[in-house]
Order: sequence, then structure tokens, then C-alpha cells
Amino acid sequence: GAEVVGPNTGYLASGLSGVGRLADTAEIIGVTRAALGKNGDLAGRRIVVTAGGTQEPIDPVRVITNRSSGKMGFALAEAARDRGASVTLIAAPSAQPPPAGVDLVRAVTAREMAAAVAAAVTDADALIMAAAVADFESAAPADRKIKKTGAPLSIDLAPTPDILAETDAACVRVGFAAESADLVANARKKLEAKRLDLIVANDITAADAGFSSESNRIVIIDPNGGEDALPLMPKYDCAGRILDRVAKLIAAPGR
Ligand code: PMT
Repeated sequence: GAEVVGPNTGYLASGLSGVGRLADTAEIIGVTRAALGKNGDLAGRRIVVTAGGTQEPIDPVRVITNRSSGKMGFALAEAARDRGASVTLIAAPSAQPPPAGVDLVRAVTAREMAAAVAAAVTDADALIMAAAVADFESAAPADRKIKKTGAPLSIDLAPTPDILAETDAACVRVGFAAESADLVANARKKLEAKRLDLIVANDITAADAGFSSESNRIVIIDPNGGEDALPLMPKYDCAGRILDRVAKLIAAPGR
């Protein structure tokens, strides 16, 4: 039953390259946390998390994207793993290190993310979408780099698939709402339109919350009128509070 971490492959003290490197500290900590949490309240559960900002190509060089770093989604994946869940993390391009003990699936565009989510949710207990999915893609991405001519350029945009709204998965479905005004009212509209079990609203105008920050200030909103406004806290702690609610929903009779 022992978990063996490493040895990893890379440059060795001898000057040669091969198997024999000590695992990174983050990997050792990740595997340790997963081992400590394997009998947690999400043991035996399958959780799918999305993270990061999708990139929609305009041409082979340029993309439409947003400022999501992936930190919120990666924190959710780690927190779920640390409570015993088997986690699939579907990540748009992100500089965050891959979490140990999590099944990481890369998806660049909204369409790739939609396909990855559809494949992953079939036997999942919960889908938590922290990714900032592009709402628009170029209607006709160019095959070659668009040349600068000095003249103004227009790009026709087409809507991307709404992954959360279109999934028919029977699992607990949690969305995020990135809002710059009327936080709770706008988030509640998305909760209703996408028929979600919960939506997590975050104000993206605050410097210490939302995109790229280490911390977040969230309001967890449910379909029964409940609004849990939480103070500023690290994204991992926000993830814990969201998972408290998800764990209860998964275990609710009738699910
Ligand atoms: O990654 P970080 O830097 O840590 O930042 C975290 C965050 C701000 C990106 C995150 O906390 C967050 O708010 N994520 C959702 C951002 C977003 O796209 O919000 P939205 O209001 O546009 O979308 C609502 C929900 O629908 C989201 O769960 C989104 O994943 C989903 N969606 C959106 C568009 C689309 N085409 N398909 C979707 O499924």
C-alpha cells in the first residue's frame, strides 16, 4: 500500500541524464496530501474540474483569450484530491504546475474543452467549471498569418458552444460567474439559465480577487435563494468551501 514518489528523469549529479532525480517538492507534497486524504469525504467520488482561459485562434500566430491564470481551477482540483476524490482536471493553457495525483487533460479552445468535458463527465459525480471559456471564436480563422497593411481590420466572431448549458450530465453541476457589475443578480441569472446546482460569483474588478490573484472573494449562490458571501481567502480555501457544498449535494438522497 506504499506510495512511491519518483525517481524522476532529468540531469543527474554525474552529468548524465536519466532516471534518478529526487521528485520536486511540490510533487512530494501533492502525493503526501493525496495519501493523507484518501479516506476523506470525497473518497470514491469522481470530480471533473475545468481551469484556465481558452484560446481561440485568429490565424496561426494570434489568439483571442482572457486573463485567467488557472489558479482557481487548479486549487479546486488539488482540494478535491486532498479529500479523496478521483479528479480529472481539464485545463486551458496555464503556467500552473500540473498537480500530482490528478488526471490532467489539456484543452486549448472552447470546442476542445467541450469535447474533453463531454468525455469526462459520463461517470462523474460533479462538474465544476472554473475555466474562463471564450464566449466567441473567429468565424473563419486564417490559415496563414494575417499581414499588417496599415488599414483597419475586422474579424467576424461566432459564439462558442456553452459547455455548461449544453451538458446533459446528471452529475452535480457548478458554474462560476466572473462579473464586473451587479455580482449576485448577474450570477443568479446564469445559475437559472444554465440550470446549475450552484454558482460561485466573483468580482473581477477587485485587485485581490478573481483573475490571476492568489486569493478570491466569492459568493456561493444556490437555486433556493441561498447566498453565502465569504471573506477574502486563498483560492485553496475557497475551493474547500465550494467542495463542502458539493460533497453535501452529491450525498443528498435521490442523487
Ligand atoms: O484562473 P484564475 O486567474 O484563478 O481566475 C479565476 C476565474 C476568475 C477565471 C474564475 O474564478 C471564474 O470566475 N471563472 C469563470 C469565468 C467565466 O467565464 O465566467 P462566465 O460568467 O463568462 O461564465 C459562466 C460559467 O459558464 C462559467 O462556469 C464558465 O466556465 C461557463 N461557460 C462559459 C462560456 C462557455 N462558452 N461555456 C461555459 O461553460
